[in-house]
Amino acid sequence: MEARIVVLPGDGVGPEVIREAVACLQVVADAFGHRFAFQEALIGGAAVDACGDPLPERTLELCRSADAVLLGAVGGPAWDKHPRDQRPESGLLRLRQALGLYANLRPVTVHPALEDASPVKPQIVRGTDLMIVRELSGGLYFGEPRMFSPERALNTLLYTREEILRVARVAFELARNRRRQLVSVDKANVLETSRLWRQVVDEVATDYPEISVQHAYVDSFAMALITRPRDFDVVLTENLFGDILSDEAAVLAGSLGLLPSASLGGTVGLFEPIHGSAPDIAGQDKANPIGTILSAAMLLRHAFGLTEEAAALETAVDRTLRDGHGTGDLQGAKHRHGTASLGAVIRTAITAVRPTVPGLAVILP
Ligand code: IPM
Ligand code: MN
Repeated sequence: MEARIVVLPGDGVGPEVIREAVACLQVVADAFGHRFAFQEALIGGAAVDACGDPLPERTLELCRSADAVLLGAVGGPAWDKHPRDQRPESGLLRLRQALGLYANLRPVTVHPALEDASPVKPQIVRGTDLMIVRELSGGLYFGEPRMFSPERALNTLLYTREEILRVARVAFELARNRRRQLVSVDKANVLETSRLWRQVVDEVATDYPEISVQHAYVDSFAMALITRPRDFDVVLTENLFGDILSDEAAVLAGSLGLLPSASLGGTVGLFEPIHGSAPDIAGQDKANPIGTILSAAMLLRHAFGLTEEAAALETAVDRTLRDGHGTGDLQGAKHRHGTASLGAVIRTAITAVRPTVPGLAVILP
């Protein structure tokens, strides 16, 4: 197939991890006979510096007409004191909203080679396999009005029935093809939005009698997540809770740098690692590219329906970890690499999984 992928490296370690993921997609394309055209554009602090807007019009237009968008990370101390609409994060939030991306899928698994990499005991993390479904375009992140003064600050938390319905359906559909368990996480003992959330989730549940549904309060779920992670399958939750719980879940996997995400719901999907721009290690070839590479695998699967290609990329990452390769964030990795070198190991593994068919390449004199 032919496809156009818009690439948004962003800030901090973003460009470094994106470079490795794009190179992996290129190898996959060659191995399976696809043509991907990559088009780079500005977002975040890099875009603020270049044109005073964290989401330039041109970037948004390119994304709207793309077949998929791959993003690195945004943010950094250089822009922390800027007004809200000049902050890198607001560019990303505007992009998510403009593309209508309301369902953010964050899979969390524990690789057998990394059971000791987590500060949580191996017998607890072993076998963890979660899918966090985070609502992405509502809640506190997008509440209006909002206000800041030296004396008072205000953010509002609003959810509509329709906003909850659509993300809940995504979560139930995913659960149907997994272990058929869904836990919906809220704070219904305190928040009106959470009471509505519960009602709507229960309503959707009647369409899925084969799925077992539980409700949990976010405080106690935060504890259950690291004390008995294996008990959960699909975790459905609102925007802010999902942001917090997914970083917590990354502790089970062994590093924040490992986890990918897919943001779906609109006409174009956005794929990005769940980690941030890590300014403390930016430009030092230290960042773990795996979260971004696995996001590229999610892109192949969810944006293009290329399941075999996605699996080839995931298998390559799997073998790389199994063989003890990793960046510095992975405690106990036998073979320590920089960002670029780990990317190269993964690319070699892709061609081992799927050798390029001889005869496809035309060598010109
Ligand atoms: C994430 C990030 C973003 C979020 C930031 C960078 C705006 O933390 O994708 O999890 O809060 O959604
Ligand atoms: Mn986050």
